[in-house]
Amino acid sequence: MSTTSNHVIDQIRNAFAQRGAQRYGSEQVTQLQHGLQCATLARESNAPASEVTAALLHDIGHILPDDTHGAEASHGLDDHHEARGYRWLKQYFPDRVSDPVRLHVAAKRYLCTVDDSYANRLSPTSHQSYLDQGGPMSPAEVAAFEAEPYFESAIAVRRWDDTGKVPDLKTLSLDAFIDDIRQCLVS
Ligand SMILES: [Fe+2]
Repeated sequence: MSTTSNHVIDQIRNAFAQRGAQRYGSEQVTQLQHGLQCATLARESNAPASEVTAALLHDIGHILPDDTHGAEASHGLDDHHEARGYRWLKQYFPDRVSDPVRLHVAAKRYLCTVDDSYANRLSPTSHQSYLDQGGPMSPAEVAAFEAEPYFESAIAVRRWDDTGKVPDLKTLSLDAFIDDIRQCLVS
């Protein structure tokens, strides 16, 4: 078991231990509950370890210590948390984990643009953040998004992200996903 893997897993555990109790935007779940719900949904979909890990960590940019990537505000809706999470993840994880995290906000803009019914199903908070993040994509942005190698994983993470906001839902624990994380770190 590599020292690097243990170091990364410790950082993930610490981020959730220290800031996982923060509320997820204005939703009735915490950051930890949201991450665990998304990862549990991925597991229930028989998704590969990379998508389970991306689902678990897609919002890690909200809970990383401020000194990890500068003291950017972490409480606003349009705070580029996906970029912060991506910068941290890509140091250790392959693209199939870090790219869906980078793209999960754009994936909402993509789905709203190509699927009229999708925007109507977003929670009020999520719909407001969609507008804050730029609203509909241009045709060029749609084409660029579809050309991303992990486009489909990003869409999958996005759909779990939209669903994983159920108050008091029972989920698997963080421990249940450590093996998925470890698999991604070594391959
Ligand atoms: Fe999320």
